[in-house]
Amino acid sequence: MSLFTTDGFYHVFRWLHLFFGIIWIGHLYYFNFTQGVFFAKTDGNTKSAAIRQLLPEALWWFRWGAMWTFVTGLSMLGMKGHLVGMEIFASGWGVWILLGTAMATLMWFNVWFVIWPAQQVVIASAEGVAGGKPADPAAADAGARALRASRHNVLFSIPMLFFMGAASHLPVQMDVDAPLGLLTGVLGVVLAGIEFNALKGKLGPLTTVKGVIASGFALVAILIALVEVIL
Ligand code: HEM
Repeated sequence: MSLFTTDGFYHVFRWLHLFFGIIWIGHLYYFNFTQGVFFAKTDGNTKSAAIRQLLPEALWWFRWGAMWTFVTGLSMLGMKGHLVGMEIFASGWGVWILLGTAMATLMWFNVWFVIWPAQQVVIASAEGVAGGKPADPAAADAGARALRASRHNVLFSIPMLFFMGAASHLPVQMDVDAPLGLLTGVLGVVLAGIEFNALKGKLGPLTTVKGVIASGFALVAILIALVEVIL
């Protein structure tokens, strides 16, 4: 067992990364696959109690899981670059890990700068109503904003996990003179388009749980096809 070596140290980060990643994505799937369905069919009082008492707890684990997944992931990227050299990012490992990282970073941004601020408005409004005040008129919009970003995070998560896991176990085969600039540009436009939709667009097929899962699998196929065609 070579725990007290550079590889062992790196593996401790990989292990923590998976631990925090499970906390984050586990809560993401709980919100989208379980809680949303429950909220749609339960009565107003139960929903209000859940928003005030359960949601804040779940959101704490969710956003800090996201933060520490991000921190441990970036630490591994830094260690890899330092130990192996920056050319590792232009390898079959690098293409997949950077694609996975780009999606996970957009997801992290959505958690901290879209979902969490919007959910604070929703929770404060439910607290107010429970205390006899009128509902905050901004709460409905905030809820819709959080739902849209959250559904897009589920969409991103499916290819993100595929590529994150593929990096070490199924790296891309590519030539030394592969057009990585073109690949970065094309994938950048695709991901920016999805993120724009997460912030300002429509839910479309992401409205339902089945729809978002099917769209996630379709996105894996589209991204693999783009990478194969370009490289
Ligand atoms: C937030 C930004 C993220 C960054 C910067 C990042 C970075 C990395 C890096 C550098 C590795 C390579 C480890 C290795 O050398 O094998 C990795 C692996 C991995 N990451 Fe992430 N990651 C992020 C988010 C996530 C999330 C949200 C998950 C969800 C659970 C996740 C799951 C994984 C998995 C399953 C592996 C594969 C481990 C293996 O091959 O043994 N990552 N990540």
